[in-house]
Amino acid sequence: MKVLVVGGGGREHGIVWALKKSPKVNKIFCAPGNPGIGELAECLDIKVDNISGLLDFAKKEKIDITVVGPELPLSMGIVDTFEAAGLKIFGPSREAALLEASKSFAKEFMRKFSIPTAKYEIFYETEKDEAIKYIEKEGAPIVIKADGLAAGKGVIVAMTKAEAITAVKEIMESKVFGSAGKKVVVEEFLEGEELTLLCFVDGMTAIPMVSSQDHKRVFDGDQGPNTGGMGAYSPAPVLIKPLENDIINKILYPTVLGMHSIGKAYKGVLYLGIIVTKAGPKVIEYNARFGDPETQVVLPRLKTDLIDIIIATIEGKLDTFTIEWESKTAVCVVMASGGYPGKYKNGEVITGIKNAEKLGDVTVFHAGTELRDGKLVTNGGRVLGITATGPDLRKAVDKAYRAVSLINFKGAQHRKDIANRAFNR
Ligand code: AMP
Ligand code: GLY
Repeated sequence: MKVLVVGGGGREHGIVWALKKSPKVNKIFCAPGNPGIGELAECLDIKVDNISGLLDFAKKEKIDITVVGPELPLSMGIVDTFEAAGLKIFGPSREAALLEASKSFAKEFMRKFSIPTAKYEIFYETEKDEAIKYIEKEGAPIVIKADGLAAGKGVIVAMTKAEAITAVKEIMESKVFGSAGKKVVVEEFLEGEELTLLCFVDGMTAIPMVSSQDHKRVFDGDQGPNTGGMGAYSPAPVLIKPLENDIINKILYPTVLGMHSIGKAYKGVLYLGIIVTKAGPKVIEYNARFGDPETQVVLPRLKTDLIDIIIATIEGKLDTFTIEWESKTAVCVVMASGGYPGKYKNGEVITGIKNAEKLGDVTVFHAGTELRDGKLVTNGGRVLGITATGPDLRKAVDKAYRAVSLINFKGAQHRKDIANRAFNR
């Protein structure tokens, strides 16, 4: 089979790495890919938002299946375009991807189907005064969310009313998130531990993957601004069986059936961002794709051939499918450029990856890297995801940090406390 993977970050490196293990996949292309992916697949100079370019390539190369990594092409309708051309593609349609692409759509959907989530109101950009009045009434802490895709930056967790009002003004007046801020969701601040449950969904049937936990803040102890994710581990011990059942019955199934019933049947990977509150699990966010860096700890535990799951999902056959996982633990520590998530410098030479992988049970996933004059250099905020697996969390964490200590680039920063929440339980 010939497979095309769309994307070029750590998540896509994880997807390509898992597909490479399949005896059924004999050729993988990745657009645009990165140097790490380039060791496993043929990288293409086509951007993820160049839907017609991707379609032309898939037709010309007779690609059997296209797998979409990031949200941008999904929200642009890449799945609709490929399906209309008779090509097989893994991911939700444009309408189904609204669960991620529009926070106001997701909130109203959850309200309609009684799916537990934070209490909220939606305001148009012309309703600044109403939004401020609502914030005055509800008090802080309170959360302000730009409606559309804002590269993970559209959420402001405001600890004071003043901070919340500033955020509303920045989105509605200064338009810091552009058209993503045409609507704003103002929602209740929820307290509890967060976890990620990625699920394969074929329109009607959903199968959850193993649990994981991301580390969103840039500094140790969950301090500093939010990032794309500074590390992850799997499984997340916060997800005990009764809680998992609760999430499946009160969140996952109602979401899948709800989307089906409104004519937006969901196919692909559904990312449930859950917060475990005193009143039970609630949805913080949906994403319409694999998580990053969660993928880098979930897929290394997958026993079943990923391409078989993808085919069963596309064909709507998950109801007769079983997915097997390895009991081992996986930990991913992200090495980021100094200054990230603010300003940072590209082009720093990276060394030590081969030595780190020689430790065994270590895989270095590339996110923001580039080859310049034959040298591997940094090219992004999140540069590498160092994943280690082990028989238990302690061993996996120790191995991951030993691997990190062998890798160098100028200004590199990483969190030293990945998985601490699990140890502190
Ligand atoms: P999102 O992009 O929606 O995942 O939000 C980014 C981060 O903001 C989440 O991972 C949470 O840590 C935090 N967050 C979002 N919504 C809430 C909420 N209602 N209450 C508390 N924290 C939140
Ligand atoms: N790790 C969070 C995300 O993928 O959106």
